[in-house]
Amino acid sequence: MKDRFAVAILAAGQGTRFRSRRVKVLHSAGGRTLVEHVVRAARELSSDNIFVIVGHQADAVMASLKESGIKNLKFIHQEEQLGTGHALRAGERELAKAAPRLLVICGDTPLLTPDTLRKFVVAHRRSGAVATVLSAEMDDPAGYGRIVRGSHGTVAAIVEHKSASAEQRKIREVNSGIYCFETKLLFDALKGVKLDPLKKEYYLTDVIGLLARRGHRVAAYQAADAREVIGINDRAELARVDGLLRQRKAQQLMLSGVTIFAPESVRIDPDVSVGTDTEIEPGVMLLGVASIGKNCRLGAYSVITDSELGDNVTIRPSCVITESRIAKGASVGPFAHLRPGADIGEQARVGNFVEVKKARLGRRSKASHLTYLGDATIGNDVNVGCGTITVNYDGAHKHQTVIEDNAFVGSGANLIAPVRIGRNAFVAAGSTITDDVPANALAIGRARQTTKPGWTTRRKKKAPARDTRK
Ligand code: UD1
Ligand code: CA
Repeated sequence: MKDRFAVAILAAGQGTRFRSRRVKVLHSAGGRTLVEHVVRAARELSSDNIFVIVGHQADAVMASLKESGIKNLKFIHQEEQLGTGHALRAGERELAKAAPRLLVICGDTPLLTPDTLRKFVVAHRRSGAVATVLSAEMDDPAGYGRIVRGSHGTVAAIVEHKSASAEQRKIREVNSGIYCFETKLLFDALKGVKLDPLKKEYYLTDVIGLLARRGHRVAAYQAADAREVIGINDRAELARVDGLLRQRKAQQLMLSGVTIFAPESVRIDPDVSVGTDTEIEPGVMLLGVASIGKNCRLGAYSVITDSELGDNVTIRPSCVITESRIAKGASVGPFAHLRPGADIGEQARVGNFVEVKKARLGRRSKASHLTYLGDATIGNDVNVGCGTITVNYDGAHKHQTVIEDNAFVGSGANLIAPVRIGRNAFVAAGSTITDDVPANALAIGRARQTTKPGWTTRRKKKAPARDTRK
């Protein structure tokens, strides 16, 4: 099958109805750009015969596809965007010789599955038609081209919504914008397509009527699930499709053994894996490339991006975790912020209002409250007291803090980096530590307290009480 098909993906249009400075196909739904969804689905069918027709913001579209790691795509430039028919004509030279059959897909149908595409291609081959349209029955067909059936169930034409009569608008079978053509006949017919007087575009859909009128057999193959062929033309449709893609991902995870409470409220990107028996609370977002272990609990409204969590990890509500690693059995939050490079060891604990950046917290170590750990290496079984700050930045450079195994840092310590706290050492609460503390030592770095007995009583006698009413 591979060699006999070429695929053309139409992605050159601006997407006027988006009212965006960014080209439509680069908007994202379900964690991927619209065009990436379509290209990935096509890739499942054809390894190296995929052409993407680009025009509006072509460089950005090509760069984005490259960045998402999709290789071996061929690009065709449609310099002026004069319609879907015009887009294919722009590629005639390459496409006409690419393969005897051409599968055409609109770049704005991200819900399309490889499974449906595969069945569609097989149906085209079996039917013996020169062109097959992927169609669907829609409850609300407004905006789509309608399939006008001829005798014996063949297709006589596609009428665009704008040009359709009141009677034709009642037709609920719509054109998905996905077609299989016998390549040669397609390009012959395209020559006969005239500029549409309403939209001033060359419609690819006109090819269908032309072929039928010339006596060729044109077929339609209905998608089993009409939602799969939804085309996105504005941001309201984008939001709807985003929701459907998220639902699809959540469904997959649930069926694989993940508990998701209020699945309609979570956002999980396609490249996220989650182990069995993990529980995901409402409003959680798992973004980018992330892997979550088994039996974890992800607390409500936590946002985890590009991170790796081992098994049995607890994330309490409202944490923001980015480019971080959390080893098995550790717990984080509520309200913790793990910034890039946070590396939390097994059974370690990061509590509320703790921020960690480029720092390793060893096994069973704890930073339970109100702490900043940046550019730090912290060993195992360390206690980092409430309000500890690694003072890592002098305005010009970042410096490292090292805290060795078993050390105890009392509350409210400022560790002025670069500095090292040795094994088993003890830093007294409220200390400002500027020098290394050797193993097993106690370090106290704070001004001695002065206490003046009776001071407030004496002050009151000297000056009358302040008038608090002012
Ligand atoms: C198109 C179909 C309509 C179908 C619908 C399905 C036509 C004339 N109409 O309408 O029958 O029901 O899709 O979603 O084809 N593009 C180009 N170059 C251009 C114009 C468009 O590459 O000059 C690309 C766009 O980037 C887009 C795709 O073609 O990815 C479809 O274009 P769009 O304007 O969205 O077509 P619809 O009006 O939705
Ligand atoms: Ca469209």
